[in-house]
Amino acid sequence: MDLQHKRVLLTGASGGIGQAIATELAAAGANLLLVGRNHEKLEAVRATLATPENHMVFSADLTCETDLERLNHKSNQLYESGERIDIVINNAGVNEFNFLANRTVASIQQELNLNLFVPVLVSRMALNWLNRPGIILNIGSAFGGIGYPGYSIYCGAKAGMYRFSEALDRELDDSGIRVLYVAPRATDTDLNSPLVKQMNQELGNRSDSPQVVAKRVLKSLKEETTSCWIGWPEKLFVRVNQIFPAVVARSIRRQQARIHHFINMIHSEKE
Ligand SMILES: NC(=O)c1ccc[n+]([C@@H]2O[C@H](COP(=O)([O-])OP(=O)(O)OC[C@H]3O[C@@H](n4cnc5c(N)ncnc54)[C@H](OP(=O)(O)O)[C@@H]3O)[C@@H](O)[C@H]2O)c1
Repeated sequence: MDLQHKRVLLTGASGGIGQAIATELAAAGANLLLVGRNHEKLEAVRATLATPENHMVFSADLTCETDLERLNHKSNQLYESGERIDIVINNAGVNEFNFLANRTVASIQQELNLNLFVPVLVSRMALNWLNRPGIILNIGSAFGGIGYPGYSIYCGAKAGMYRFSEALDRELDDSGIRVLYVAPRATDTDLNSPLVKQMNQELGNRSDSPQVVAKRVLKSLKEETTSCWIGWPEKLFVRVNQIFPAVVARSIRRQQARIHHFINMIHSEKE
């Protein structure tokens, strides 16, 4: 899709990857509806973008039903006024690196909700007001393709989002709407605590800058790539994990002691 003058609803716009995507999209001539919980943070992002007056901010807690309905209403209003949204990017996300046994029910619900249920609901809403041709792009994770200790909830949610995107894209074949999936590997944002970043460094897990992810998102939008896994060797591990999961399990088993060490440190910090 040509991005010039396209209107894009971007969730998680105040976060590390969201800001980078917003910057790239604005530079490509798109007009943004920036969504996040914090109005000031969204305004601060808007102020940094090319031609700030072309972009709007919308503060909403996407896990709150009323806020989601307000966003639906706003998008419908844009539809009626002819300023239709052409692209939705479901980017807002959270995670907690912890053993399942340590997790509260509320934190599990919150993580599944924002990472999987909310994108499903936003996609469903979008079917009513998204312009044709239109794109829904879901930001997943390498952990949607590889189960990793300490991230069981996150892996489950992102894997669900991958299959959801694939199924909906096929369901909407020939409807004028594409559903795309982009899966970053570890990325240098506040989503990862300093201890998680330290663990990734010690284990040799490579990480990308948010700008690398944003550029890949723009490429996927322009070329309408169905799914994209960012970075070697993660891209390869995702494939190997599908065919020979025992090989990946062996490699993760070698990291197990360090993973447990860091989870225990994070857990004891909280107590
Ligand atoms: N960083 C990584 O290592 C990594 C790797 C793979 C995939 N990803 C995925 O990339 C996406 C962006 O992550 P990031 O690294 O940029 O994280 P981040 O910097 O922590 O940003 C998260 C964004 O989500 C928003 N958000 C959180 N809870 C929300 C809620 N209840 N309602 C509305 N917005 C909410 C935050 O805004 P407010 O707090 O202001 O509401 C913020 O804009 C996520 O889907 C994540 O799973 C990240």
